[in-house]
Amino acid sequence: MSLNLVTLLYLIASVCFIQALKGLSHPTTSIRGNLFGMVGMTIAALTTAALIVKLAGSGLGLVWVLLGLVVGGSYGAWRAKTVEMTKMPELVAFFHSMIGLAAVFIAIAAVAEPWAFAIVEKGGPIPGGNRIELALGAFIGAVTFSGSVIAFGKLSGTYKFRLFKGAPVVFPGQHWLNLGLGLAALFFLFGFWHSQSPIDFALICALGFILGVTIIIPIGGADMPVVVSMLNSYSGWAAAGIGFSLNNPMLIIAGSLVGSSGAILSYIMCKAMNRSFFNVILGGFGGEAAAGAAGAAEQRPVKSGSADDAAFVLGNAETVIIVPGYGLAVARAQHAVKELAQKLIAKGVTVKYAIHPVAGRMPGHMNVLLAEAEVPYDQVHEMEDINGEFQQADVAIILGANDVVNPAALTKGSPIYGMPILEAYKARTVIVNKRSMAAGYAGLDNELFYMDKTMMVFGDAKKVVEAMVKAVE
Ligand code: TAP
Repeated sequence: MSLNLVTLLYLIASVCFIQALKGLSHPTTSIRGNLFGMVGMTIAALTTAALIVKLAGSGLGLVWVLLGLVVGGSYGAWRAKTVEMTKMPELVAFFHSMIGLAAVFIAIAAVAEPWAFAIVEKGGPIPGGNRIELALGAFIGAVTFSGSVIAFGKLSGTYKFRLFKGAPVVFPGQHWLNLGLGLAALFFLFGFWHSQSPIDFALICALGFILGVTIIIPIGGADMPVVVSMLNSYSGWAAAGIGFSLNNPMLIIAGSLVGSSGAILSYIMCKAMNRSFFNVILGGFGGEAAAGAAGAAEQRPVKSGSADDAAFVLGNAETVIIVPGYGLAVARAQHAVKELAQKLIAKGVTVKYAIHPVAGRMPGHMNVLLAEAEVPYDQVHEMEDINGEFQQADVAIILGANDVVNPAALTKGSPIYGMPILEAYKARTVIVNKRSMAAGYAGLDNELFYMDKTMMVFGDAKKVVEAMVKAVE
């Protein structure tokens, strides 16, 4: 295979990746986007394997590469197939940790035997520019690895290890420590650039591993999705850095795409969750507020009704807006909700779904859930488009959502002050389904539940909605 052909195939793969990102920006084109991503990755992986054969021959190296592709590919496919939707953020954190570690390993190999990567002639020194790229790639990769491991632990919430607990781990002088670690890494980076000392390189990696832990532990569970997306971005930059050294345009382009799209997604999520972007990147400056007292709901009277009562109200409405949230995903009630909507539409009711950008536990969670139940896309509306319609809606029915409709976001001094919400409180009647008065992810009480026009329908979302479906005449 000629190098021109390699470049052409890498270019085609890059175009596929760009098309994949474009496709994934909307539910209607997301399947096509995924297909583009798969085709691009297949082309990139096969071309790289062919390049290895060209550079190193089809010896033991190729066997290792193919073995890696088969073992890693099979494990990834199995995990993706079997993971529960609500566990997706942990899986993504796990994958990022692997990308970070891969970047570190590649950098170590390239520093140990740069001629094997065609960086220099055998025995020659690594050029200064390459030294910086390799050291930076290894450092960012190490931060990504250990940071993602901590994020994985915090997201899973099943480990007893203190650093894996959702609550922030804070101590005096923490940010100074992080700054010191960063400066020390910079010092050894200078040393490695100057003398190519393997000790400096090893210290850079070690500091990266430590910094990954120390910048993620003070971040509370509520900020973890932003952190995962930020680590995704870091892993992309680590790959791009290594790509420069290896003179591999595919790694540079794919790494930059991951790096920039991850950073943009983090920014969008920060805005939707009312977190400061820079505070999250720098680690833990904004974690405290969100760590509020989970479950600290007040003991105040609420109006509650049965599924039959709710079905009666819904059946007599002209316009109904459904607000799905995390609880709907937990209950796996999406099919029942679709059935309810269909029944109402058949009765002449206008039904729309309102999607908050951070409803659930991962970006696009509610879109994926509704798409799974084949809810028509034209019924699904983003927050900015539907917020103006709540005022005219007869009923807003909130299914397993809490924070994303919490009017506390409008009150100065509230930990979620400034977070954009779905303005369900403006509807003429509000129906809320959840199992208890427990707080949502942000750990805050919700004034919406106590309003005169609100009817609470307690119970598991799937059971309650199925009962509503039966009761709608
Ligand atoms: P939450 O505020 O977490 O509220 C979910 C509600 O669902 C809970 O109050 C819970 O109350 C109820 N629930 C749980 N299981 C249920 C079931 N089986 N049936 C019925 N209800 C059930 O959810 P939200 O409104 O979707 O907001 C998402 C929150 O997560 C935001 O704070 C967001 O910042 C954060 N977050 C978002 C993401 C992304 S990227 N989407 C990732 C991580 C965190 P009961 O226990 O009383 O039933």
